[in-house]
Amino acid sequence: MARYFGIINCRFRPIILFSFLIVSFLLYNLALGYYKAKYTESAHGNNPSGAGVNRSATSIETGFGYSKGNCTHCHEQHASIGGGEPSPTGGPDQFSLFAPMNATSQTTNFCFQCHKGIGSVQYGILTNHTYSKNFGGGTATFDNIYDAFNTATGSSHNLADVLTRATQAWTTTFTSTTNACIVCHNPHTAQKNHPVTVNALNGVNTAVRMPGDYKANDYNLWGDETGSGEMMSEWWTLYQAPYCKGKTTYEPACNSTFNGSNLPGIIGGCRSGCHRGTAAYSTERSRNLRPVNWTNDSTEPGNRSVHGKFPSSPSGDDGFPIAPYTDGTKNYVLSCTDCHEPHGSPNEWLLRTTVNGKDNISITSSGWWWAFCTACHDLVTGMPDGWHKSGMQKCSNCHYHDYTLEGWF
Ligand code: HEC
Ligand code: HEC
Ligand code: HEC
Ligand code: HEC
Ligand code: HEC
Ligand code: HEC
Repeated sequence: MARYFGIINCRFRPIILFSFLIVSFLLYNLALGYYKAKYTESAHGNNPSGAGVNRSATSIETGFGYSKGNCTHCHEQHASIGGGEPSPTGGPDQFSLFAPMNATSQTTNFCFQCHKGIGSVQYGILTNHTYSKNFGGGTATFDNIYDAFNTATGSSHNLADVLTRATQAWTTTFTSTTNACIVCHNPHTAQKNHPVTVNALNGVNTAVRMPGDYKANDYNLWGDETGSGEMMSEWWTLYQAPYCKGKTTYEPACNSTFNGSNLPGIIGGCRSGCHRGTAAYSTERSRNLRPVNWTNDSTEPGNRSVHGKFPSSPSGDDGFPIAPYTDGTKNYVLSCTDCHEPHGSPNEWLLRTTVNGKDNISITSSGWWWAFCTACHDLVTGMPDGWHKSGMQKCSNCHYHDYTLEGWF
């Protein structure tokens, strides 16, 4: 018994544990049957950006000798005890990572060790802008992920709520110690998604995966291949991409592609286990969030949205949308990311600051969205009522997802 403990507690324990992890990682990879995204194609693995994980404490630049992209920048073979400090619990950090996982912390989550501004342990500066800037061409707001999740005014995805929802939806895979970022990203496969690059599989380099693929199809990215419903163009043929700022070219690449064939089918990811039905709880709002029914199926929970597959009024009065949504005979479908940021926004409800080419949209008072909605709707010349024209009523009194009269929002 004592001898057995000796092995487990010996100073090689982190090495033994890490070797075990690597063997299981390799065996697991061999067992999968779809297109398996590779670590060497991932942003952390140094491809194709040339950035790659490169922790100052272990980087080749600082003389420690580990090249960019090396697993060691995240997994410590030798001293994974709270970043080299004696760990309060006496053992290596989860998965032999170099710092505690803090799986649901909005401020000390493991990923923020690098994905923040001052204090990042990544060698050199690591910049990640908002969706509005990267794919809408708008003015920069946050330039790192930590700031997006910790905005003083505005809103951000609450990481604890995200994980709670995932553990309810996928009871056999997500647990209370899974890192909340991992609900939407796989750290071993996430690719650099900006600038948009069409890849050999006819999809794009993508940062995201389907939450339900965690463990079940762990190395399957979302939006990297065509033919299996992963692209927005495959989800709904009448997806129409919005304009980029100051241009008549389209998101997300700001080129002539407008049908979403270069955009991951993000609607599937947001709705799969999270924003359908009523159970996604919001700590910020102290209530369950409304269901988002983007289908044309009245039996699904929630009223069908005019911005989804459910058609709005027939031609003529189609909400007086402005270019490029000007064909009144079409049933346009929007992507969640046409209006929402994935991580955080200076606006409430993760609402974007750049929408359909309109920049610096600022929602200063909750529910007053005139500046936001007019990025796509001409409310001045189109609407008969005076208050709609001037924006002098609180929009959220009547417009929101799941409004009880189908067709209003
Ligand atoms: C950006 C940081 C990062 C890098 C770089 C990284 N990992 Fe990981 N790794 C993680 C995190 C976070 C987890 C926990 C994932 C989870 O909850 O399933 C993990 C989990 C693992 C696991 C156990 C779970 C699994 O997916 O099978 C193995 C094995 C592993 N990593 C091996 C590697 C190897 C080998 C490399 C280099 C080829 C590598 N990692 C690079 C962050 C990283
Ligand atoms: C609810 C899902 C979700 C969660 C949770 C989430 N992300 Fe993301 N993330 C996305 C989506 C969608 C994108 C792709 C759109 C984009 O690039 O803005 C993205 C993009 C990114 C990017 C690339 C940004 C760029 O420059 O293009 C990084 C880096 C990132 N996420 C890191 C994180 C980290 C770190 C966490 C946890 C603190 C996290 N994400 C949590 C959905 C999520
Ligand atoms: C050791 C530092 C480090 C850690 C820890 C780390 N990252 Fe990264 N991450 C990077 C670097 C460097 C890049 C590449 C940046 C680039 O390509 O411009 C990157 C890129 C990404 C991207 C690709 C998006 C893009 O276009 O830049 C995603 C998504 C991402 N990280 C998510 C995560 C998540 C989730 C975690 C926690 C599990 C994490 N990262 C932990 C350093 C790190
Ligand atoms: C046309 C712009 C637009 C699009 C597209 C859009 N949203 Fe929203 N979303 C809003 C606005 C405005 C609010 C705030 C009003 C509200 O609460 O419904 C909101 C609120 C939400 C809320 C909180 C609802 C509540 O009050 O409980 C969720 C969840 C949400 N959106 C998810 C989604 C998802 C998922 C998609 C894609 C299927 C999506 N949104 C597409 C504009 C949009
Ligand atoms: C008292 C309820 C009410 C309020 C408050 C309200 N709206 Fe409306 N809105 C409506 C109705 C009713 C319609 C017509 C719906 C339809 O045609 O399906 C509408 C239509 C719209 C449309 C689509 C245009 C069209 O021709 O159908 C937009 C965009 C819009 N409203 C934006 C706003 C904005 C922005 C605000 C806040 C400044 C706002 N609404 C406040 C009731 C309201
Ligand atoms: C990214 C562009 C975009 C944004 C932003 C946007 N809409 Fe729309 N909206 C559309 C399009 C396109 C349609 C027509 C959908 C169709 O063809 O079925 C539409 C339709 C509508 C309709 C149905 C109109 C009718 O007559 O049936 C209403 C109501 C509406 N929008 C309200 C709003 C409100 C309120 C906001 C702000 C919270 C908003 N929209 C923001 C693009 C947008």
